[in-house]
Formats: sequence, structure tokens, C-alpha cells
Amino acid sequence: VIASVDVRREPRGVLVDNEGQTAWVSHLVGAPLTRIDGINGASPQAQTVSLAPSPLRAPVGKVLDASLGYAIVASPDGKRLYAPRHALGAQGVRNWYGAPTVDVLELPSQRSPVPPRRSNILAAGRENASFKDLLKMHGQIPFVEPGPMVQPRAAVYLKRTRTILVAAEGTDQLVEVDARSPEPGLIARNARDLGQNMDVPHGVHEGCAAPSGVAVSEDELTAYVFCRASYDVVAQPLGPGVSSTIRLAEDPQGKAFEKGRRMFYATGDIGMSGGLGCAGCHPEGRDDGHTWHEVKSPETGQKIFVAEQHAIGIEEKPSGFPRQTQMLAGRLGDPGPYGWHAQAPTLEDRAKEGFALHRWDGAGPADLDNATSRLRARALAPFLRGGLVPPPRDERPLTEVEERGRQLFVGDGTGCATCHLPEKGYTNRAAYPLKPLPTRPTFADEEDLSFKTPGLAFVAGTPPYYHDGSAPTLEALIEWNNDRMGRTSHLSKAERAALVAFLKTL
Ligand code: HEC
Ligand code: HEC
Repeated sequence: VIASVDVRREPRGVLVDNEGQTAWVSHLVGAPLTRIDGINGASPQAQTVSLAPSPLRAPVGKVLDASLGYAIVASPDGKRLYAPRHALGAQGVRNWYGAPTVDVLELPSQRSPVPPRRSNILAAGRENASFKDLLKMHGQIPFVEPGPMVQPRAAVYLKRTRTILVAAEGTDQLVEVDARSPEPGLIARNARDLGQNMDVPHGVHEGCAAPSGVAVSEDELTAYVFCRASYDVVAQPLGPGVSSTIRLAEDPQGKAFEKGRRMFYATGDIGMSGGLGCAGCHPEGRDDGHTWHEVKSPETGQKIFVAEQHAIGIEEKPSGFPRQTQMLAGRLGDPGPYGWHAQAPTLEDRAKEGFALHRWDGAGPADLDNATSRLRARALAPFLRGGLVPPPRDERPLTEVEERGRQLFVGDGTGCATCHLPEKGYTNRAAYPLKPLPTRPTFADEEDLSFKTPGLAFVAGTPPYYHDGSAPTLEALIEWNNDRMGRTSHLSKAERAALVAFLKTL
């Protein structure tokens, strides 16, 4: 290691500028990018650069939240950066989950090329609008469906056509967008199908499931795509011609994980996903850092998740209960119940509940308790438990301060370990009616105030905290606790810091 710098949560894509001095970093969680200057020197410096997700589809005056920032590419002259990702709360037709986006940052100004929008009106009847049409919409929200670029995972810039190819993990497609557009993700030029042989009962492709890496030949006439859930490489002609596929390996964890691994990423079947796959909110089995709204579907009245309450009506009063996404990797070993209200007795039940929640029209319990849903839930469960890789952990003895924190945690003074059982992943999996937290803006009050004790494994890496995402850091959580959960108000400043230091080792 030559140098290391601290950056925001979940750094993923890295791009080095043409001079080799500055690196740009995308993040799985949150909208800003990180800029690291002086990477060729001894002391690189990181700073946060804001980049508004899908500005043409955000409510006027609001900056959306983002997730799934894996890829980051630049134009050959280095004057434009492109960040394919997911814009949480982007508006459009049935955009319950937001929309995939490619956000542009112009350099050196670090500004967006998108002119500010003036109206929150949905511009109807422009389903296939060209970009010229969009500019004539007088700042209205383009009336477009979320588009095929679901879970954008990898990208490459094509000089020949001045387009960007994006590997869409959710739809098993290679989507091409116009690099000259101020908001390239809004209109896909084309979407090439990579997925082969639909396994109908499981709702997944047998071949090329979850494309996640892309490279192009020097003449830019062939794209090579790696598909992470089926371990294939596809050679995809970008002009005429047919693709060819090589399977690199069978599933390294064996047959029991094959289907579940594909299902975790896939969005091709309405019975399992109405737009976003498991990996869309639990990327890599972690979490998107977002607090979803549990609302009633405007079409069927069934419970569904929407990314922001404005997805169900722009001027609507605050609505929906807060549901902060939970991390799954390394946390599902123990038996249930699952869910913030401990509402699902088994992992299979929670998966089935999800099949109904993650779509625009919802689905009743009767629609879900069928052979297909049961088959899918059974195939998912072993992969969720054994196939998701937990973050790496430093294996080292606790420092003196951390050890002090551990003693406080397990001691009677705080009572933390009465609910967060150390030998059970730091949860007793029971729901408690704790004193209500103040209602957050845009969310509604909930009658059922019993929430499940969450497991605390890897808790340092999963902010924000609580079912409503109201505590931004562990420091804030302890500071604001006021004996709501266990007892902390008697602790000195140093003891609180020690308790936090211990939590960060879990
Ligand atoms: C739209 C975002 C979204 C999608 C898509 C999604 N989840 Fe979740 N998931 C959440 C949120 C938010 C929670 C917390 C709410 C709850 O527990 O009821 C959650 C909770 C869970 C839990 C409970 C964890 C625990 O410890 O109690 C499991 C298990 C789970 N999801 C599995 C899945 C699976 C499997 C899929 C794909 C079929 C999936 N999720 C797709 C957002 C999502
Ligand atoms: C009565 C049982 C109980 C006790 C005692 C308790 N907790 Fe909790 N803990 C919970 C519940 C329930 C939640 C979820 C509350 C919510 O979301 O509103 C929670 C949430 C948390 C979270 C947030 C985790 C996340 O991923 O959102 C942390 C961190 C935490 N507790 C640490 C502690 C510490 C430290 C103590 C001791 C001072 C403690 N807890 C004592 C039940 C308890």
C-alpha cells in the first residue's frame, strides 16, 4: 500500500483522469462522487463532489438520493464524466422505485449540463420523445417509463458512435445511450438482449444472467460481457452478427445456489419483481442506505414500497411508513422472524412478502401463496444465507477503548446485550414497542410501534440506522438515545465513545 484515504460509504468505480493526477470514485450508496487529487504524490486528498441524480425527473428544487454507483466513465477528451446508477425517487410513469440514470458532470466546472426544470407537471403523451422534444417540454417531467437499464452495473464509452454501453444486471441487456445528451439515461438508443433460455418457473435466464462487466474490442465492433450469476462471457457484435457465449465455470457453490443466485439479480418476471431485483436494494447483499415508503398501491390498495412519497402523487400529503433497507449478507444465519416488524416467520415468507411489495400494483397474499412463489422462495433462501459474501473483517484483538466499550455493552448498566445477544448475531429477533421516534418529514405515523431488534454484525458500515433511517451515525444514535433503548444517559463522554468504538468492531 502506497497511500490510503478515507472516503464515504461503499466506494466502487474508479476513474483516473488523462493526466494521471486525479481519481474519481463512485459509491454504491448516496448521490455525491468522491474526487481524489494528487494520486501521483505522497499525500492524496479526497473531497466530496455533488452530482444530482436524474435532474430532469426530480421534483423542482429537490436533489434525489442515489444508489448502485458501480461504474464511472469519461469522454476521451476528459471533459465529461458519466455515472450510471439508480436515481431513487426519479419521476415518470409507474416509477415506484425511481429510475436508472446516467448522470453527467462537466469538467473542469464540475457542473451538470441539465438546465433547471421549472414545472412539476408530468408531460403526457410523449412516450417516445426525442431529446429535442424533451427540451420543448418547457421544463415538465418527461413522461417515460423507467427504461431497460435496470441496475446499471458496468459501462464503456464508444468513441466511434459517441455512445455509452451499459451492462444492465437486472434485465440482462446491454443498453446504449447517447453520450452527447445532457441526461443520457433518459432515452435508450437500443437495448441488446444478452440473456438466453428463459427458465420460466424461476423467472431467470439460464445463459448470461446478471451482466456485470463489459469491455470492447479495439475496433469497437464487439463487446465482451461477463455475466456474474451464470459465469458466462458473451461476445456481442455491436453491428450485425450473432453473439457467442462461453461458460467459464459452473456455480462455484454448486447446484443449490444456481437458481437463487440468478434470481437475486433478475427483474424479468413480474411474479418476483415489478422493476427492481433484490440486488437493486440489497446490492451485493448489503443495503442501499435508503429509507423506503411503505404505501398502499394507488391501483390495487395492496402494500408496496415506493422510493419517495412523491412517486404516488406530487402534491400528496406525507404518506407511507418508513422502511430502511436491511443488510442481508452474514445476517440471515439464525432462524426468523424477519422484517422490521418481525412479521415474516421464515426467510421464505419474507421473500414472498417481497414479491408483492416490490412492484407498482402490489399483490394479495392469495396471489403469492402459489406453487411458483413457493418454488422461488425455496430457491432463494439457501443463496441468501450462504451465497452472499459478508464484508471483510479485521481479525485482531480489541483495543483498550473497544474492550471498555464491550464491557459496557454486555454489562447491566446499559442492558444492551439483553436484546442484542452477542452469541446470536446481536439480536434476539423479537419486536419491542420502544418509545416512538419523532415522525420524519414526508412519512406518516405508524400505529404498530414494535420493531425487531436488528442484528448488529457489520453495523459500522450500514448507516443510517433504525427502521426510519433517522440516526445518521452511531455517535448520533448513542447521543440521542436518552434511555429509549437500554440505558445510556448516565454514560460519560468517554464511555459513549468507547461504546461506539466497540459497535464499530462488530
Ligand atoms: C425496493 C427495495 C427492495 C427490494 C427490491 C428488495 N428488498 Fe429486501 N428489504 C427492503 C427493505 C426496505 C427492507 C426492510 C423492510 C422490512 O424488513 O420489511 C427489506 C428487508 C428484507 C429482508 C429482511 C431482513 C431481516 O433481517 O429481517 C429480507 C430477508 C429481504 N429484504 C430479502 C429480499 C429479497 C430476497 C429480495 C428479492 C426478491 C429483496 N429483499 C428485494 C428493500 C428491498
Ligand atoms: C429492549 C431491547 C433493546 C435494548 C435493551 C437495546 N436495543 Fe438496540 N435496538 C432495539 C430495537 C427494537 C431496535 C430498532 C428500533 C427502531 O428501528 O426503531 C434497535 C436498534 C439498534 C441499533 C440500530 C441498528 C440498525 O441497523 O439500525 C443499534 C446500533 C443499537 N440498537 C444498539 C444498542 C445499544 C448500544 C444498546 C445499549 C445501550 C441497545 N441497542 C439496547 C432493541 C434494543
